[in-house]
Amino acid sequence: MGAEPALRLRGFEIYSGYLDASAQEAMLADLRAVQADAPLFSPMTPYGKPMSVRMTSAGKYGWFSDRRGYRYVQSHPDGQPWPPIPPSVLAVWEALVSRERAPDCCLLNFYGEGARMGMHQDKDEADFSWPVLSISLGDEGLFRIGNATRGGKTESLWLRSGDVVLMGGEARLTYHGVDKIRPGTSTLLNKPGRLNLTLRVVD
Ligand code: SIN
Ligand code: MN
Repeated sequence: MGAEPALRLRGFEIYSGYLDASAQEAMLADLRAVQADAPLFSPMTPYGKPMSVRMTSAGKYGWFSDRRGYRYVQSHPDGQPWPPIPPSVLAVWEALVSRERAPDCCLLNFYGEGARMGMHQDKDEADFSWPVLSISLGDEGLFRIGNATRGGKTESLWLRSGDVVLMGGEARLTYHGVDKIRPGTSTLLNKPGRLNLTLRVVD
């Protein structure tokens, strides 16, 4: 596990190929167990449209959205608490962010064919001095990086299975999104799609 990012783009630190194939397989098995306890669902945006990305979470909090807005909640929409964040996932946070403070939320985003995520800031957390750490598994996703305010010139890169991105410092409140995935570019998930995890300190 390397400690230096392969690339820095607008303050985003990209660790390409951070997880090798066996680490990806092990993490995926842990994430399938998370999804068995906390099934994926399609959150409703505040504007009343279901998101194309399906989601679930692990940890103390899960990210949630409905007509009342975006927020963190302490239980799955089915009523049960979120399952714990698997140790294989926490290990990446410990290696790249902190051994003292664990993340409160691991958001799992599943992008099926045609799913995308519009440009947004991650700003539902209390303390922006903690970075958001992202792990990509499965098919490639076209990740777009914008600016501190909406609009302006953007830069894009394909995130591949095993890539890790740290969004911290000046990049913590930078707009970002996922335009599309490239189905069939990875065999990890045994079906088309991309799984992205984001680890967040919430409180
Ligand atoms: C997110 O911004 O929550 C997801 C980013 C990604 O899917 O790479
Ligand atoms: Mn985000």
